[in-house]
Amino acid sequence: MQLAKKHFVVGMTGGIAAYKVCELVRRLQDEGASLQVVMTDGAQQFITAMTMQALSGRSVETDQWKSLTGNAMPHIELTRNADAVIVAPATADFLAKLAHGLADDLLAALALARDRVRTPLIVAPAMNVEMWGNPATQRNVAQLRDDGIVILGPASGAQACGETGVGRMLEAHELLEDIVAFFQPKTLAGKKVLLTAGPTFEPIDPVRGITNLSSGKTGFAVARAARDAGARVTMIAGPSALGTPRNVERVDVTTGKQMMDAVLSHLPADVFIAVAAVADWHVSNQSARKIKKTATSTPPALQFALNPDILATVAALPSAPYCVGFAAESDDVIDNARRKLGTKKVPLMVANRAQDAFGADRSELSLIDQEGVMTLPNDDKLAQARRLIAEISARLR
Ligand code: C5P
Repeated sequence: MQLAKKHFVVGMTGGIAAYKVCELVRRLQDEGASLQVVMTDGAQQFITAMTMQALSGRSVETDQWKSLTGNAMPHIELTRNADAVIVAPATADFLAKLAHGLADDLLAALALARDRVRTPLIVAPAMNVEMWGNPATQRNVAQLRDDGIVILGPASGAQACGETGVGRMLEAHELLEDIVAFFQPKTLAGKKVLLTAGPTFEPIDPVRGITNLSSGKTGFAVARAARDAGARVTMIAGPSALGTPRNVERVDVTTGKQMMDAVLSHLPADVFIAVAAVADWHVSNQSARKIKKTATSTPPALQFALNPDILATVAALPSAPYCVGFAAESDDVIDNARRKLGTKKVPLMVANRAQDAFGADRSELSLIDQEGVMTLPNDDKLAQARRLIAEISARLR
């Protein structure tokens, strides 16, 4: 539950992207938020108030002259217990109203009347590419940014009007990710974080190779947590089918050697987190052709050569970032991880049991540094990643 105990006013204005807000309203509640939907007349041309009432479980406010609640001053009352006002979709017309401080309908009035410190305003623009690119809209958007209003998107792509370009509202899952990110403490603001994630794949021949059971879930969660904490994040990822966290730069690689090259070419960084399960060896007598099996042939004799140790190499650089290693071990987890603190010469190692962690959605982590051992009890990987990022941020300060 990323938004437990949060209450939002969700304002809808008149755009076809309103259909995406039906989904957003469900997902916000899945994360523990409670919602009060407010719709303009324009919004109700696309989606009915009944639809939004059913989805949000609460009467929808549509008219500043016919309040459903309290002292008949909904433009004041509705935001007083809200953690944010989220306007999606936000039309060009509504952005113009916000930029000029107009208050001629309930949503515009409550946006103007909210406590600007306690109740931030988050808007998700949705409009035709020409409307978005129009200097009037761009002037308004610049003004809104200056006024501290958070603007999510818009994205570029095919539009309902048949044209293509910037102006599409973000998808519900993207808005949700950005809204969750907005509420995370910005402990890594201004920092660059470089990390490795996932397994590596060391080829034997064009169709076979050696890999491991790492899914990438921990590394991708750490990338997201670092991004949410305000860092610029580059993730060097081995083969993984997972989607890239928003606003994370992802570089896909296959082998340990490629991972090493990609890491070195993306330095400098303030923090380097080696989450990837890098193969210790690669096959040195790799075959350029598929190795054939015949009834009489002997099994191929594979020869192995050591892969470069990315973490130890980065930690030994003259301008090394703050380095964090992971140790997935089957036995003697803590002792093995403590040994690696010394051999790899890093200030922090994170240990877990390989057989519990690989592929799982949850994990127990132990943080090991010169001071001792700190255990983060079993929890989902994103929650663990957020705790780890908080610990790293504290050590940087
Ligand atoms: O494989 P090992 O137990 O040594 O891995 C411990 C840490 O070292 C992990 O953080 C892993 O990402 C990193 N590592 C690396 N390059 C390797 C092997 C491991 O960066 N070749």
